[in-house]
Amino acid sequence: MSSWFPSGFGFLGHNVRMSGSPTQTEPGVGPLQPRPRFNAESTVQCLEEWFPGRCRDLPWRRTRSPWRTLVSELMLQQTQVSRVAERFEFFLGLFPDAHAMAVAGEDAVVAAWEGLGYYRRARLLHAAAVRICDLHDGEVPASTEALLALPGVGRYTAGSIASIAFGRRTPIVDGNVIRVVARLEAIDAAADDSDLVARCWETADTLVRAAASPGVLNESLMELGATVCKPALPCCDQCPLQSQCAAFQFGSASRIPRPKRRTVRQSVHLYPVVIRRGDRVLLRQRPDRGIWAGLWEMPSVESADPLDQAAIELGLGFKVEKLRPIETFKRLLTHREVHFHVYEASTRIRRGHWCDRAAASKLAMAKPMRSLVDRRVWS
Ligand code: ADE
Ligand code: SF4
Repeated sequence: MSSWFPSGFGFLGHNVRMSGSPTQTEPGVGPLQPRPRFNAESTVQCLEEWFPGRCRDLPWRRTRSPWRTLVSELMLQQTQVSRVAERFEFFLGLFPDAHAMAVAGEDAVVAAWEGLGYYRRARLLHAAAVRICDLHDGEVPASTEALLALPGVGRYTAGSIASIAFGRRTPIVDGNVIRVVARLEAIDAAADDSDLVARCWETADTLVRAAASPGVLNESLMELGATVCKPALPCCDQCPLQSQCAAFQFGSASRIPRPKRRTVRQSVHLYPVVIRRGDRVLLRQRPDRGIWAGLWEMPSVESADPLDQAAIELGLGFKVEKLRPIETFKRLLTHREVHFHVYEASTRIRRGHWCDRAAASKLAMAKPMRSLVDRRVWS
């Protein structure tokens, strides 16, 4: 055990050791006495004083409304802040409230979602808008229970909307909060350790109960994690919580939390075929399940193993001529490594979606497919 902190140390639930001999010599810490926790009141006070002057100027913070909070929090679940910031006002311009989104329809929401990734969220957001109209007269509900009943809204999102938009005392825990809390309490565990995550929900709850403004407190925890208590190099010298931070005191901030176990990416081979006729290209919609579900593509064959030309022709499901390879590249998704083997062909088939540039631009596509079409068809 090379770690400075015994992994069985008492904060992580079931294996609190109440007897045994001390095995390490960190100042002030022994395996027998759980280290006193930080003071919630002063932690909260420092954060609430820090946030207003130091928070980033982000579109959803300039003008606040429950609908804007809901949309931004759903977007921010899996997409970088800078990317959401670039697209937020455009998106809100198309769908200024739940009613506008409900009547615009799912396809319009998915198309406007382009560039934000994880398109399932666009469908869930549209479904949430419909439900908000049907059940709540078009107004985002304030209670955590009603929020949790909305499609796409889990514990984190419900807590963030209830607290930020409605001032409710509901805790939130995301990756930023996990890192900040693990460091404040010097909990030596992997960022996705379920005991650590449970512990963070407890601490977040303690903090939000002590807050003067629950929304400000919750947002300040995330903001501190994003801008000061950063993953690799925390800026402890700029941190309002330095004096109460156990990891800072022990000099272990950058080692806490430990990395998540590495995700193993599954290899997938994708064979998109560029089929042109005049100024049009043949496109089709991907299946409802799997990678890029429901998005548009050039007709493609997907396989766990490399395919030969005959297998590609067979897999396409319609007859093509003059099939030939034109380029290969690789893209990493969260859980997959996608090997693109791009082909070109012609066909006599007339059926299908033959799209010109304007029509293609209105269809939602995954980013690699969009750039492939732009590169191979229109340029
Ligand atoms: N990540 C998700 N929601 C956020 C927020 N409201 N502020 C900062 N980072 C966030
Ligand atoms: Fe994070 Fe450093 Fe602040 Fe502790 S002192 S909360 S490690 S930035």
